[in-house]
Amino acid sequence: MRVSLVLAAIALAAPAVAGATDPLLPAGRWTANMTGNAMTPPMGWNSWNAFATLVDEEKVMGTAQALVDTGLARLGYRYVNIDDGWWLTRRQSDGRLIIRTRIFPSAATGPDTSFRPLTSRLHAMGLKAGIYTDIGRNSCGQSYDIESPNTPEGSVAEREIGLGDHVEKDIRLFFGEWGFDYVKVDACGIDDNSERARATRGGTFAKYPPLIYRDSLNRTNIPEVKARYAAVRDALVRANPDGDFVYSICAWGSANVRAWGKDYGNVIRTSDDIRPTWARMLHVFDSAAQRPLYAQPGSWNDPDMLFVGHGDFDETHLTEAKSHFSLWAIINAPLLIGYDMRKAPKALLDIWGNADLVAANQDRGGHQGVIAYDSEDVQIIVKTLAGSDRKVVALFNRGIAPADVTLMAEHLKFAPDAPVALRDLWSKARLDPFTGKRVFKVAARETLVFEASGRRALADGMYLSEIPGRVNVAHDGVVRPQTDPTVHRMVNPWEGTASAGTRPLYGGWGGAMADQTPYGQTLAVAGTPLATGIGILANSRLEVKNDGEFRRFAAQVGVDDNTPNIAAPVLFEVYGDGRLLARSKPMRFGDPAAALEANVTGIRIVELIVRQANGRDVPASAAWGAARLLK
Ligand code: GLA
Repeated sequence: MRVSLVLAAIALAAPAVAGATDPLLPAGRWTANMTGNAMTPPMGWNSWNAFATLVDEEKVMGTAQALVDTGLARLGYRYVNIDDGWWLTRRQSDGRLIIRTRIFPSAATGPDTSFRPLTSRLHAMGLKAGIYTDIGRNSCGQSYDIESPNTPEGSVAEREIGLGDHVEKDIRLFFGEWGFDYVKVDACGIDDNSERARATRGGTFAKYPPLIYRDSLNRTNIPEVKARYAAVRDALVRANPDGDFVYSICAWGSANVRAWGKDYGNVIRTSDDIRPTWARMLHVFDSAAQRPLYAQPGSWNDPDMLFVGHGDFDETHLTEAKSHFSLWAIINAPLLIGYDMRKAPKALLDIWGNADLVAANQDRGGHQGVIAYDSEDVQIIVKTLAGSDRKVVALFNRGIAPADVTLMAEHLKFAPDAPVALRDLWSKARLDPFTGKRVFKVAARETLVFEASGRRALADGMYLSEIPGRVNVAHDGVVRPQTDPTVHRMVNPWEGTASAGTRPLYGGWGGAMADQTPYGQTLAVAGTPLATGIGILANSRLEVKNDGEFRRFAAQVGVDDNTPNIAAPVLFEVYGDGRLLARSKPMRFGDPAAALEANVTGIRIVELIVRQANGRDVPASAAWGAARLLK
């Protein structure tokens, strides 16, 4: 009775427009992508960072053999992925893609050509095989690598080797006929940069109105880009009755893919391309590192492939190379080597071969590391391991001078009065336990990584921000996608300073955050800071996997002190398997946080919904303070 009065009073009951597409309707189930084979981040090798379009069979098979011989395959590096450069033409009589047999001789099986001999050899070696295509009609190489000897040949139509209108046919060819297990789907065929590049480089290509404008989310046709990538996922499901495929969405953080990619893909590129420079590594890392709530088993944030072995990460820069690898490991990035493995020196093999870091990356919990301390200079990133009291923590010095870094038990969500044990995952040394805090000297550009064990601060449960792999941001309440200003902005590797500078590019600003507000501030309600919790805009819905494990959900809820809307009241609701379990009173800016609890015994999916009276207003920023599941 009280509930209905409250609802009438602020006119925001179950939404008036409730329908199948209402994003705030409790789903009663987990809606993030569960198709494909990526319960842990994919591992392996890709030809691009090593060879660009100069890929060939000898390089691919030589690498495959090296992965086996060095033991890296046994450690999990199983996917051998061919990137751009493999195609010759699209045959016009039947639309079939023809392979460039000059560089892939085993594909010369007849006029049709086939990768089946190559994938069969990889499979016989215990490996898996990946291929590359584009969501549009043309590939990225056709814009940026137009002089390559491996650029597709023939008429305008013959050079349209991207998926375009051939999704079903090409996907069946790749997976059914050729036996691939992984596909990376790029997006140059539908973006404006490529349009410009093709025009200025004199190639003739059919005019195609771009769907993606890399520097304008408003001009980008987000629903259409999403629909096209969704259609590829559906084709993959049809072509792979055994579900054994990996779908890599390579739309470089454009089209707000950081919000929706997880619903369709297994690997979601969060930025433009990595280059082998420190500053560019920071850029791509940042594009994924602030988004732990948008990755979970089945779908991973992808800051692009490893560049260990090249440039700032070569054999003479092992500190940088180890940092790069440590960071990718702790944020659950796919571990795809980008080096000519036929000549990999031991110093590099030891980096990719760090079994402890690989184990952390592959931990079955799938919890991306969360930034526990953040600055432009130093970051502390903490990753919870499944089913245990252990964490992995990285102390990352981004700067060019040594730094004193204080690690606190609180960073680890461990009790400040109990000993914390650390094992160094690079040197393998066990350190003397510390209580409360300990200071480390971290060299310029160094990353120290430890496995940490201690007494959990929350003894009888888990904070949701510790277990992002069990949280799906089903709807983040963002009304107009905005670019994320927190990504490191380096001198653009392709144009240097011959521009006005690098602008924020990637949508996602205002999305759900672990232990921060949606805009990167400290969570606080009515002047009281909340050390942990989920910050999210109003008119949002989170799905949390309880799987019957915990008995109680509890949080301190309220409107955040930095809310962009100080007028609108909001309601917090907790659902269990689609049923309302608890609802707050209307909460306004300045109201002290209120305790909200629910019995979730036996519940599989807990949903956390925040509603705001007028959906057209600027959404308030809501705090699910200390949101936790308790035994
Ligand atoms: C784009 C992608 C890269 C690579 C190239 C190939 O730039 O982001 O990862 O696949 O295309 O041309």
